[in-house]
Amino acid sequence: MTDFHTHVLPGMDDGARDAGESAAMLRLLAGQGVTAAAATPHYYRSDEPIEDFLKRRERAIETLEAAPGFTGTPRLFPGAEVAFFADMSREARVRELRVKGTDVLLLEMPPGIWTSAVVNEVYQLAVSLRLTPLIAHAERYAAGGRNAGALDDIIAFGALVQSNAEFFLSARTRRRAFDMLRRGRIHVFGSDCHNLAPRAPNMGALGTLLRKKLTPDRRRELEETERRLLGARGDL
Ligand SMILES: [Fe+2]
Repeated sequence: MTDFHTHVLPGMDDGARDAGESAAMLRLLAGQGVTAAAATPHYYRSDEPIEDFLKRRERAIETLEAAPGFTGTPRLFPGAEVAFFADMSREARVRELRVKGTDVLLLEMPPGIWTSAVVNEVYQLAVSLRLTPLIAHAERYAAGGRNAGALDDIIAFGALVQSNAEFFLSARTRRRAFDMLRRGRIHVFGSDCHNLAPRAPNMGALGTLLRKKLTPDRRRELEETERRLLGARGDL
């Protein structure tokens, strides 16, 4: 199982505070059956240039790898949770924020209703920058039918959708989560974990639920999507 959305890199954002916490989070994920995890600290264009973010991320990875208790499992894919900004597709360096070794860009969409300009920008990321935009925790913007048309448009031109495990695990939202999954509006999952509590890794419970609710064929299909995304070679 792959976790496409984590905040496990130490000191990068509002996630893991230090390398000890990072290593503990990763050990928890490994114990939950996660074999690959995208490390996706927040990136805000207004806060820092892309190159500064990448340097900080490099240092955070070095710190993590040197930490006692770091095991190397799950396999870590450095990336970013990139907050949408106007004209982002015109900035070629945005490609460097993709999940390393893949063409996946985890994208945090703007709140509220997505205008055609926003949808067009995501389209340009896919077409001009040859990325696979991955909409982060789509349930935040699209549950209950909000932005459903825009989401379907975005999916139609090749973007994919990530949902947090919590969306499926919460009894309050589970029905909506499986409805979105059935309609092809969710493709991959993430813990969006920030710490050991209260936003701890929770992929194990999701795995158990999916094994209970989905047919083996459907589960294989989802696993194939995960493999395809991680196997798509970028030019790093
Ligand atoms: Fe996040």
